[in-house]
Amino acid sequence: MNTKSIKDLRNRKFALITGAGGLLGEEHAVSLLEINKDIILTDINLNKIQKLKKKLEKTFKSSQIFSIKMDVTNEKSINKVWSTFNKKKIIIDVLINNAALDPKFNKKVINGKNSRLEFFSVQNWHKEFSVGLTGTILCSKIFGTQLIKKRTKGIILNIASDLSVISPNQNVYKISKIKKSLQPVKPIGYSIIKHGIVGLTKYISTYWSSDNIRCNALSPGPVLNLQSKALIKNLEKLIPMGRLANKNEYKSAIKFLCTEDSSYMTGQNVIIDGGRSIW
Ligand SMILES: NC(=O)c1ccc[n+]([C@@H]2O[C@H](COP(=O)([O-])OP(=O)(O)OC[C@H]3O[C@@H](n4cnc5c(N)ncnc54)[C@H](O)[C@@H]3O)[C@@H](O)[C@H]2O)c1
Repeated sequence: MNTKSIKDLRNRKFALITGAGGLLGEEHAVSLLEINKDIILTDINLNKIQKLKKKLEKTFKSSQIFSIKMDVTNEKSINKVWSTFNKKKIIIDVLINNAALDPKFNKKVINGKNSRLEFFSVQNWHKEFSVGLTGTILCSKIFGTQLIKKRTKGIILNIASDLSVISPNQNVYKISKIKKSLQPVKPIGYSIIKHGIVGLTKYISTYWSSDNIRCNALSPGPVLNLQSKALIKNLEKLIPMGRLANKNEYKSAIKFLCTEDSSYMTGQNVIIDGGRSIW
């Protein structure tokens, strides 16, 4: 963690983002900085969040931005982060559970052998679950419990997906000249985990409702990134608005869900997917 000229941060309230080094992590960070929220970027990839911190500090000069390594699957690692900031009397009152394993569709990462149900791997299942679901539970447990001890209001926002309410349409991933039994698919774990995030969101929101902890989920649709032209075309056909999302199209939702603007809202799954899940 970079500790350059830290002013007196006593009782200052911060938002912590998990998996902040990825595609949407930066957007979540910018959203919060734009509304003057100080932030803590966490990820297992320290290099990515250190670079992001430097980049953000150029624009948001008066904000406090920390970057610190945290593995959401490891309770010790999460506790260490909590106590690092607790020692500085910093309060983490917003938690965005954003980390997930979402392998991108290129031949090297996803192929028929490592994605199809016929070749289901318990090892991969455990890996995906430990980040997407166990990680979300562990972070919620540690940061939520500490807020309650301090009798401070808090917000937990879980990042789900349009696949939290629909099943993946495997036709979009089809590649020509490959036999059916080896066609790549969206692996079974991702969608189950995202459906689980919705259940978890409802559980936490009711469990801690009398402790002033609100918990909601945000379900983005697919974001335009480095997908192949064929995949983009196939996805566009499934989306009533006829296009994928730009990565900055969730920023207003982040601002709404992570502030008192959503003060009467808990346990909900906000789906922003160009209409994909209603078709
Ligand atoms: N990008 C999309 O199209 C899209 C669409 C719908 C939902 N989502 C969801 O949005 C969230 C962010 O997606 P993204 O596209 O930015 O993903 P990404 O793969 O670009 O980033 C994920 C980040 O999580 C980190 N990470 C992995 N394992 C970790 C661990 N054990 N502890 C801490 N960090 C860990 C990675 O290092 C990476 O920086 C995810 O929950 C994803 O499922 C993304």
